[in-house]
Amino acid sequence: MGGRMRLSLCVGAVICGALVTGAALADRAHGEDGQQVYKQANCVGCHKWSGVGGGGYGGAALSLRKTELSVDQIVEIVTCGRPGTGMPHFTSDPYGARGCYGLTADDVKDMMPPAANVVLRPQEIEDVARYVVDDIKGKDEPMLADCTAFFGDASRACDLYRPQTTAAASHHVMPTPTTTR
Ligand code: HEC
Repeated sequence: MGGRMRLSLCVGAVICGALVTGAALADRAHGEDGQQVYKQANCVGCHKWSGVGGGGYGGAALSLRKTELSVDQIVEIVTCGRPGTGMPHFTSDPYGARGCYGLTADDVKDMMPPAANVVLRPQEIEDVARYVVDDIKGKDEPMLADCTAFFGDASRACDLYRPQTTAAASHHVMPTPTTTR
């Protein structure tokens, strides 16, 4: 399964380099692993980096900041997708013999959710579900600190959230008032 994820992502993707070091990631804290999965499995593509969701390919992805779901429930959704919606399943053949939500392919019929472009291992699904609950769920509007935690401090992707540069610059050159006497 892991092999498949690697392969499918490395076809025309930008992150092959990151995947080569994938083994090293195993040692990291789960939160960090979860964020890696969130990026590599392209949850970002539909839910956005901050989890706000919104329109896009795959329909209107729900806000993960506003989700009420637990880790276990998110594990199930990522494993199984959500029938009748654009939320894809990240395992192969989840509606096979054992089924998902107690349903098999015969029950789900044309409500079958799409297959994601990557297949995740159970550990990766657990990690990403924990990341959603610990780092996204329950947060308000995304702020600069959330953005740099995702993209890194230097990223221009976060400029939007920075105080306006001109204002900041002029603030710095303001002479410090000397005591008048
Ligand atoms: C192709 C677009 C797409 C991708 C990729 C995608 N999602 Fe979703 N997701 C959706 C849509 C659409 C919904 C809303 C389903 C609905 O209407 O109930 C959703 C719903 C969810 C929900 C349910 C939220 C709730 O409160 O009910 C969770 C959790 C979730 N996604 C997590 C993820 C995670 C984690 C990933 C990456 C592993 C991911 N999604 C990737 C489109 C996507």
